Amino acid sequence: MLFEPRPIGFVRSDYTDTKQVPKGLGAKHVAEGVLEIVPEFEAGLQDIDGFSHLFVLWVFDRSEGFELCGMPPCDDRAHGVFATRSPFRPNPIGLTVVELLGREGLLLRVRGVDMLNRTPILDIKPYLSGVAPELLRRGWLAEAEERNRGKRPRT
Ligand SMILES: C[S@@+](CC[C@H](N)C(=O)[O-])C[C@H]1O[C@@H](n2cnc3c(N)ncnc32)[C@H](O)[C@@H]1O
Repeated sequence: MLFEPRPIGFVRSDYTDTKQVPKGLGAKHVAEGVLEIVPEFEAGLQDIDGFSHLFVLWVFDRSEGFELCGMPPCDDRAHGVFATRSPFRPNPIGLTVVELLGREGLLLRVRGVDMLNRTPILDIKPYLSGVAPELLRRGWLAEAEERNRGKRPRT
């Protein structure tokens, strides 16, 4: 199968520069934005209104290249790219969970965007988490939080 990804829409957000997006341990993503869907895919939005949260798959279209092992902004130790949410990945695909605030036709108003304005959207799926909190392990992130407790965050 030949797979040729094409945007199903674009993000409208107030972020125009990567430096504006909150980063690091405990960063909160509460920014509101809009997912603007391309008209030819409108029928695919039917019944989306009933879901409180959505997975959004998108393209890091303003990242250059990739780094298999790198230092995330929330730690002073390097980690493998597949153990991080780094924008510098072999396939530059981002994944964000957003809260759906409302739909007006082709526009989905959402909260929790961490994407730059005009970021291409590859797919949207309803967020359904079946993993019990007590079964979740947070790997190096939990260790970094423990080490950095009480320290000033890196910028
Ligand atoms: C750490 S990544 C995490 C993104 C997503 N939540 C994920 O887990 O895949 C978030 C960063 O990606 C960068 N970013 C957002 N939109 C981008 C775009 N269109 N191209 C390149 N980098 C982008 C911003 O600097 C933002 O701080």
